[in-house]
Amino acid sequence: MSQDDLKRRAAEAAMEYIRGGVIGVGTGSTVNHFIDLLAQVKHKIEGAVSSSEASTKRLKSHGIPVLDLNATGELDLYVDGADESNRHLHLIKGGGGALTREKIVAGASRKFVCIADASKLVDLLGTFPLPVEVVPMARSHVARQLVKMGGTPVWRKDFITDNGNIILDVHNLGIMEPVKMEQQINNIAGVVTNGLFALRPADVLLLGTEQGVDRY
Ligand code: A5P
Repeated sequence: MSQDDLKRRAAEAAMEYIRGGVIGVGTGSTVNHFIDLLAQVKHKIEGAVSSSEASTKRLKSHGIPVLDLNATGELDLYVDGADESNRHLHLIKGGGGALTREKIVAGASRKFVCIADASKLVDLLGTFPLPVEVVPMARSHVARQLVKMGGTPVWRKDFITDNGNIILDVHNLGIMEPVKMEQQINNIAGVVTNGLFALRPADVLLLGTEQGVDRY
């Protein structure tokens, strides 16, 4: 089975959490499967709040209404992928650069269901470089602070976020205390947010495996 098949399995398992209403939708190749499946039940939902321009485009291509979070209020369900998860369901996200809007929609949702293939489960977060969204004029300042914290920031070249900012991918962080590190990085002036989802972790993790779906 390919990695993509495993992602699809996880996305299929997330469908059982849908109870109608407005669905929060993340970003990435795993969520793309979820969006395609959502299209099959679009008559049962009011619409979606999207976490990126890319997901908005895909949702609209299926005729799923995309709604403004300011108009919907809190959501019952948010479904999104991850680049890494530990067993506490603390995540690293933002490989696709959509971390800020993802964190907003996750924060506005009562249940966050994370979908991924089994390779995303790790003992210690930080092998995947941690994405940090930064206001462009603060790039060098933020990079210096990240070096002081022990990281090796790398500017993601030729990439601008949906919010008009840049991304620093921080290598070599063995993240022992995800909540603390999320707070510390967010306290640097110029950081919009970072890709640690520990203050607001996932509530459910669905991992596609060769055998089926593991649930945490
Ligand atoms: C997007 O910015 C990310 O947070 C994605 O959710 C994450 O990178 C997972 O992507 P895949 O589903 O493509 O692995």
